[in-house]
Amino acid sequence: MVFLSTDVISDEELTALMQAINNRYGLDFTNYERTSLKRGIIRLMMEHKMKTIIELWSVILKDKDFFKNAIDNLLVNLTELFRNPDVWIKLRDNVLRRLGRENLHIWHAGCSTGEEVYTMAFVLEAIGMLHSARLTATDLSTTALNKAVKGEYSLLLLKQYLVPFLKFFPNTGMEYYFDFQDTCATIKPKYRANVTFRKHNLVTDPMIDQFDLIFCRNVMIYFDEVLKYRVLKLLHKCLKPDGYLVIGYYDIMPDVGKEYFDIYDVKTRIYKRKN
Ligand SMILES: C[S@@+](CC[C@H](N)C(=O)[O-])C[C@H]1O[C@@H](n2cnc3c(N)ncnc32)[C@H](O)[C@@H]1O
Repeated sequence: MVFLSTDVISDEELTALMQAINNRYGLDFTNYERTSLKRGIIRLMMEHKMKTIIELWSVILKDKDFFKNAIDNLLVNLTELFRNPDVWIKLRDNVLRRLGRENLHIWHAGCSTGEEVYTMAFVLEAIGMLHSARLTATDLSTTALNKAVKGEYSLLLLKQYLVPFLKFFPNTGMEYYFDFQDTCATIKPKYRANVTFRKHNLVTDPMIDQFDLIFCRNVMIYFDEVLKYRVLKLLHKCLKPDGYLVIGYYDIMPDVGKEYFDIYDVKTRIYKRKN
């Protein structure tokens, strides 16, 4: 494999490529964090053995399927079942009980391949709140969403998820939640029944629903301050009074976010809506 550094792409080239993508596909990356975008582009060039951005440019603009996969590379769909188990323990023992109502409506913004929303379904079941809850899971990437809807994960992946899973459920086997086949396992239907997946771009698309709890974990890391502010404003608008927001361990709440949210628990990155 050829190793490339982010220096092979100048700021001007990045801007021009992003403008071309916006014109061709209507996707606006203007306020995405530039180093992350450059890293994503480099990953893509190395994967396809390309040495210059021009090679990538022409394929991206000509081939829609290539572009769809490229998007995943740029956005990095990495996720995990029970990612950061402490968050789920805090939600189970504290936040969900405080919300404590029937008919909870929860939004997973940037749900990637679905592990986060299915984790939520498992947690809700454990405290008897799944039956009346509605879970909305959205992402910009169609490829990720298609995988999420299927709810099918390779056994290799599940093996990686075992440690955080056991931290939350030390006494329950994964077969309680998954139907196992030879090389993969599928989420059991009862955990999908309350989940609606849909394509949604946090930066450009409106959201009219009102939620008790919103997850937006490890999505804003790719956004600059302008975009973070815009997204936080949207999340605030979509939270019911007394609602909670969970961000990722690596997300940094910008100063402007303090206008909209109070820290609820620093360790688990949980915030409460300011009214
Ligand atoms: C690193 S994954 C995080 C998945 C999950 N929330 C977690 O923390 O495990 C980031 C996800 O954000 C999505 N994403 C990036 N920009 C987005 C946008 N503007 N609107 C919606 N989703 C976006 C990506 O497609 C990707 O699936």
